[in-house]
Amino acid sequence: MLEVDTSAGKVTVSQGPTTGYKVLACAAPVIAVAALLVASGSRDDEAIEASVGDLGRWAGPVYWMCALGVVLALLRGWRRTACQFDSAAHALVIERSGPGWPARTRRLSLSAVSAVIDRRWRRGRSIELILTDGEALAIARGRRSHSSVLDAIARHVGALLGKPIQLDRGVLIADRFEIDRVVARGGMGLVYRALDLTSRRTVALKLALDAEPDPVSAGRFEREIEVLADLEHPRIARHVGHGRLADGRSFLAMQWLDGEDLACALSRGRLSLEDSLHVMRGAAEAVAAVHARGVIHRDLKPSNLFLRDRSAADLVLLDFGVARRLTRHSRVTASTAILGTPHYMAPEQASSVRDIRPAADVFSLGCIFYECLTGRHPFDAPQLFGVLGRILFDNPEPVAVLRPEVPVAWLELLSRMRIDCSSGSRRRAWGASWSSSSSRV
Ligand SMILES: Nc1ncnc2c1ncn2[C@@H]1O[C@H](COP(=O)(O)OP(=O)(O)O)[C@@H](O)[C@H]1O
Ligand SMILES: [Mg+2]
Repeated sequence: MLEVDTSAGKVTVSQGPTTGYKVLACAAPVIAVAALLVASGSRDDEAIEASVGDLGRWAGPVYWMCALGVVLALLRGWRRTACQFDSAAHALVIERSGPGWPARTRRLSLSAVSAVIDRRWRRGRSIELILTDGEALAIARGRRSHSSVLDAIARHVGALLGKPIQLDRGVLIADRFEIDRVVARGGMGLVYRALDLTSRRTVALKLALDAEPDPVSAGRFEREIEVLADLEHPRIARHVGHGRLADGRSFLAMQWLDGEDLACALSRGRLSLEDSLHVMRGAAEAVAAVHARGVIHRDLKPSNLFLRDRSAADLVLLDFGVARRLTRHSRVTASTAILGTPHYMAPEQASSVRDIRPAADVFSLGCIFYECLTGRHPFDAPQLFGVLGRILFDNPEPVAVLRPEVPVAWLELLSRMRIDCSSGSRRRAWGASWSSSSSRV
């Protein structure tokens, strides 16, 4: 018996023994006594006495102990577990009780939960919490055929803890993709490494967080699928498949890339001049291919540029979640929400100008180039509004000062991309530039 109760800021999951289990636990003592009676009757048989010798004397107590053990195990399993997640008290209280056993209560801080895992096997399924010290706590178990309650538990607990629900290794998606492990958590969902059972190739599987996403998130996922399916280029992650799960969540399977994203590489420091140029060239090729299909990426940043085999020369572009198609008749409008980091946003995006042109991507590429060369964001500030203000009105510290060996031609390129304009007002510079529809990188 599995129940979930949600009331203001609290989620209570309770699970007691099933009716089948209760019947078995009640019948067990009767069956055990009957078996013992039969066994003790046959013990009188002199032939058996003679053949087992001394062992015969121990058979009785051993039978009794086994029978008692089975009964105790069944009674111990007759437990009721209640987990209460209380967001107001930031606490998780787990209470276990059962017939003949004292109730045990355990209290944990909600921040001790590092992940919520949805484990599935052939016929069963459980929702587990992974604590920061690595301990796994099952909060609900059930048969897969009755998984709607487990779905609800996962959804409520995940939302209350602010954690996405991770699928466990071995789970099959759309009867085709077998989950291996989570590789990243993004705004839209989790990215898994998975095996495509059709081609026996590894894929990256992006699975939406919510079965009933808000229209904006649903639109983003649909657009990402549509744009990626339409693009084929060696510098862009290849679309492998997409679809929707029975619970309504969308998924997108892409070519798997081994290596690391540029954000990881930059976390170790700035790149060499040669690698910076490789990144710039690779990213520019990818973005040019995207623009040639009439699409603006709008979210160019280091975590969306992947370095295969950690090589700057082998860059692949990812993540078309906020990409937009640019047609002659329809103009692209800026999203009012700031998604992710604003550091690479073009001034026209930062100021919510309702006409985003391909030049916005060129500006973001310039920010990435600056960061590869200097190891710093060009418009860094402690607060979100500080970053936006700097993007709109400030000049970054000149690359020539931070890294004097950078060739002059590269500085000129940065200035043409509206970064590092060491003279005059940047406002004028971007004002002049974004109104042109040039997409040349
Ligand atoms: N095809 C892939 N192969 C390997 N890792 C990938 C792949 N796609 C995405 N990733 C990893 O997952 C992260 C998030 O993916 P992304 O598509 O940018 O999703 P989000 O919209 O959540 O930012 C990436 O930064 C990258 O590290
Ligand atoms: Mg991303």
